[in-house]
Amino acid sequence: MKKLAAGNWKMNGTLASLAEVGALLGDHPKPACEMLLCPPATLIAAMSTAARGSALMVGAQDCHPKPQGAHTGDLSAAILRDAGATHVIVGHSERRTDHGETDALVRSKAEAVVDAGLVAIVCIGETEAQRDSGKTLAVIGTQIDGSIPGGATAASLVVAYEPVWAIGTGRTPTLSEIAEVHSFLRGRLRGLIGSEAEGVRILYGGSVKPSNAAEIFAVPHVDGALVGGASLKAADFGAIVAALSAA
Ligand code: 13P
Repeated sequence: MKKLAAGNWKMNGTLASLAEVGALLGDHPKPACEMLLCPPATLIAAMSTAARGSALMVGAQDCHPKPQGAHTGDLSAAILRDAGATHVIVGHSERRTDHGETDALVRSKAEAVVDAGLVAIVCIGETEAQRDSGKTLAVIGTQIDGSIPGGATAASLVVAYEPVWAIGTGRTPTLSEIAEVHSFLRGRLRGLIGSEAEGVRILYGGSVKPSNAAEIFAVPHVDGALVGGASLKAADFGAIVAALSAA
């Protein structure tokens, strides 16, 4: 299995930010891991052009569950593919919170991504209150059962475990807490999709930075990272790519 360093730029970045792509590829032209950046949708086409022929793949942060139609302001997986996207993040906790996205909607989006021939990165994660009340595995189990697309394969599905309380806070779970969730997820995936589960990349996300990346990547069943803030600067994301390549 090739590990995956994925960056989620969220609602950050303009055309000027594409300078980071040149810097990243200059320092890491052929990393041992896969490398993906998910900029705002407005930058997908330009970033794809900038990354053409390189090791960098470009993804989107969300899509509509339908393939086309009267949905003003929305983007389908096919439209994102046409712009150059190879991956689409679905079910990020910020979308679950900001837009009330349910597991059922997330699954329908993930199915649309896979139907379009792209890779779905399905995000799940508990809130701080849920962790404090001992519900983490129950919450994560319900989310994975309800969010992953039917017939998912190792090639079409990536799962990202992102504890909501660790996103953008500088706080992370302990390494043993990460290990517990990731091994639980591997087992749950085996129950859902059988032997394909062994090849599904399970990413950790939430305050990953150059200083903690190596220790997180040494945790069993951590197959990469989904990086927010630290993916905006080529130097930081490049250091995370290097740590994953060495893991
Ligand atoms: P931060 O790395 O900024 O904590 O964000 C994580 C995240 O939400 C990636 O999708």
